[in-house]
Amino acid sequence: MLIDTYGRTATDLRVSLTDRCNLRCTYCMPEEGLQWLGKSELLTDDEIVRLIGIAVRLLGIREVRFTGGEPLLRPGLPGIVERVTALTPRPRTSLTTNGIGLARTAAALKAAGLDRVNVSLDTLRPDVFKTLTRRARHQDVLDGLAAAHDAGLTPVKVNSVLMPGLNADEAPDLLAWAVAHDYELRFIEQMPLDAQHGWKRDGMVTAEDILASLRTRFRLTPEQDGERGSAPAERWLVDDGPARVGVIASVTRPFCAACDRTRLTADGQIRTCLFATEETDLRAALRSDASDEEIAERWRKAMWGKKAGAGLDDPTFVQPDRPMSAIGG
Ligand code: 5AD
Ligand code: SF4
Repeated sequence: MLIDTYGRTATDLRVSLTDRCNLRCTYCMPEEGLQWLGKSELLTDDEIVRLIGIAVRLLGIREVRFTGGEPLLRPGLPGIVERVTALTPRPRTSLTTNGIGLARTAAALKAAGLDRVNVSLDTLRPDVFKTLTRRARHQDVLDGLAAAHDAGLTPVKVNSVLMPGLNADEAPDLLAWAVAHDYELRFIEQMPLDAQHGWKRDGMVTAEDILASLRTRFRLTPEQDGERGSAPAERWLVDDGPARVGVIASVTRPFCAACDRTRLTADGQIRTCLFATEETDLRAALRSDASDEEIAERWRKAMWGKKAGAGLDDPTFVQPDRPMSAIGG
């Protein structure tokens, strides 16, 4: 198992398949993009499947989430999904995507064994989408969402980040739209993970702001008896359900104490946290003929060193070198 000194067990593995992206969300990347990883630095499909196999068979991972950058840009994705869902025990699988290209690929991904998708969409207004992502691809995302729902990649979840002065007023509209389309909406507080280091605690839209805005139009009741488990989203029933809405308050209400994640970057580094300042190189181990058990042991050691929390709200917080696109959401 992957346990740490604070008694947490990681059962959820996030695998970044590429650091590249076809959008340029302002809270993530600069306009000109970033220095992408080179081909030889990236893990191959075989290397990725081997590491996930080790995680599932030897380390107790039960949930595998594919992320990026934009994971649909990885040509081998359907094959990777197929091989991962053929593992024993079979992990649950999901994909976090910006939705571009999903209209074309949703059915094939479902056939390959993918269980679910999380699609990022921050606005219902094409002009605001273009300002936020610097690309005019709003309709592609809507089409991708519809295709994912049709293909049965359900529940389809939508992730929204609200930015002051851009889409901060859209929370109720987004929720009404999501409920109408049977998408489960989750708002994510903006985190200091942009490559340009432009994040400011003062300017950000907080969970409290989001809930207040939603309550102007909907009745929200906390789901269950405050049982949040390791799920980062706190969830509310919308107008008595069954529709729900989630808020991931990574900054103002961090959930580090219940974190069950471990992360693998596209170049084969283990990160114990989005905000970790240290990494453990599994690619070097893979490429020097280490055995599965040796690799598993390195991974266990990495997790044992996991810090208590990220401390985003702490004035001494230091942003990690890697931006979100090179870590995986
Ligand atoms: N803060 C919060 N969420 C972010 N995402 C990307 N960058 C940030 C950030 N700085 C979101 C994306 C996507 C998920 C992977 O993370 O919008 O939904
Ligand atoms: Fe791409 Fe996601 Fe970053 Fe937007 S947030 S630029 S979709 S990796």
